[in-house]
Amino acid sequence: MSVIRPALHHVTIKTSRLDEMVAWYGKVVGCSVTFKDANNAWTTNDGANHRIAFLSVPALTDDPDKLHHNGMHHSAFEYASFDDLMSSYARMRDDGIVPAFCLDHGMTFSIYYRDPEGNFVELQSDSFGDWKVSTEWMSTSPDFAANPIGYFFDAEKVYQAYKAGLEYGAMQKAIRNNEFAPAPIPNIGLPV
Ligand SMILES: [Fe+2]
Repeated sequence: MSVIRPALHHVTIKTSRLDEMVAWYGKVVGCSVTFKDANNAWTTNDGANHRIAFLSVPALTDDPDKLHHNGMHHSAFEYASFDDLMSSYARMRDDGIVPAFCLDHGMTFSIYYRDPEGNFVELQSDSFGDWKVSTEWMSTSPDFAANPIGYFFDAEKVYQAYKAGLEYGAMQKAIRNNEFAPAPIPNIGLPV
């Protein structure tokens, strides 16, 4: 029997910082509260009743060794365009929210942030602007197979080049030539 494939609907995060988390997801991806009480919140940034939810009980504690423990690495949100990714980067930068690390994955430009609980959130735009083409490239490109993590870039350097009018393909080429590399190369949330 074939699998009826349900759509991914929401992610629920445990937190000891409920108000901070609700505010952060509001600022970063525009989530608004559908329902909130003293210990829980359900928020959304589209037509679904909730997309990002939070559960908070007093017994929750931080994991001091989170880096070494298994679990979810990141959630991701996609903009309709590179312009939207760049303007959102600048909006957040001006609000004091800065990336943890940035990668050109080939099929996406991706800027990763750390939420107040230390969970990574990837903000991306598709380099092909078409999921079908993007999926085909990812599954068949020798470039992706050779380096599936991608190429690091410094968001501010890329933003300045973008503002100066550097064309998208030239930007990707420059990133591969390490012209926009961050110093030092940041940790991507995995033990080394
Ligand atoms: Fe991702």
